[in-house]
Amino acid sequence: MDACHRQRLVSGCLQEKGRDEASLEKTISKKLTIKSNEVRYLCGGNCSGGGLFRQKITKKGGVIMISFYVNGKKQTVDVSPDTPLLWVIRDQLKLTGTKYGCGIGECGSCTVHIDGKAYRSCVTPVGQVQGKRVTTIEGLPKNNPVKKAWIQEQVPQCGYCQTGVIMQVAALISESKNPDTDKIVNAMDDVLCRCGSYPRMKKGIKAAVEIARKEGKAS
Ligand code: FES
Ligand code: FES
Repeated sequence: MDACHRQRLVSGCLQEKGRDEASLEKTISKKLTIKSNEVRYLCGGNCSGGGLFRQKITKKGGVIMISFYVNGKKQTVDVSPDTPLLWVIRDQLKLTGTKYGCGIGECGSCTVHIDGKAYRSCVTPVGQVQGKRVTTIEGLPKNNPVKKAWIQEQVPQCGYCQTGVIMQVAALISESKNPDTDKIVNAMDDVLCRCGSYPRMKKGIKAAVEIARKEGKAS
């Protein structure tokens, strides 16, 4: 059972049966392991999803809440720290511009910025972004050079991969004092576009670099 399923199981138990966490714990049939501040339980409840789940608890016995900033707004979530950031963004925060492609860090469609750098949110545990600043495609300003260039060059075909592509290019441009189109194109080698819009992506990158240079937003 993956982290996401475990979390849904716990939330489901609380929501479906109207229980608080204390009463949920009464259905626990067996405490399996205690390691540091982590406790694993075997759920003895009779809901359809009964099984293993895990929660981190604080010294005072409360569940650890994870807080971070998303598009400038502080968010606090109650999920297992190993839940992929992608699912927190999409399922909990309802920011669905970030897409699920492969789920194993191979395609780039889930790319977001964490403290200004591009990361693949499907393989980033939410526990790792505690206190950090996450930017999703919804939080990238409309006047960002990459957004402007993508409209100018009409880059997307179906668009599914494009939010991740835009986030990756935007991070590469903003990280460089003197962005180089060829270097950025090469750095995009591991991004997958099922529609094969690569030639238009190259045009978009070239245009974005030019706009960033003109506007002095390249550093
Ligand atoms: S969905 Fe994250 S890299 Fe493919
Ligand atoms: S534009 Fe369709 S997957 Fe890239």
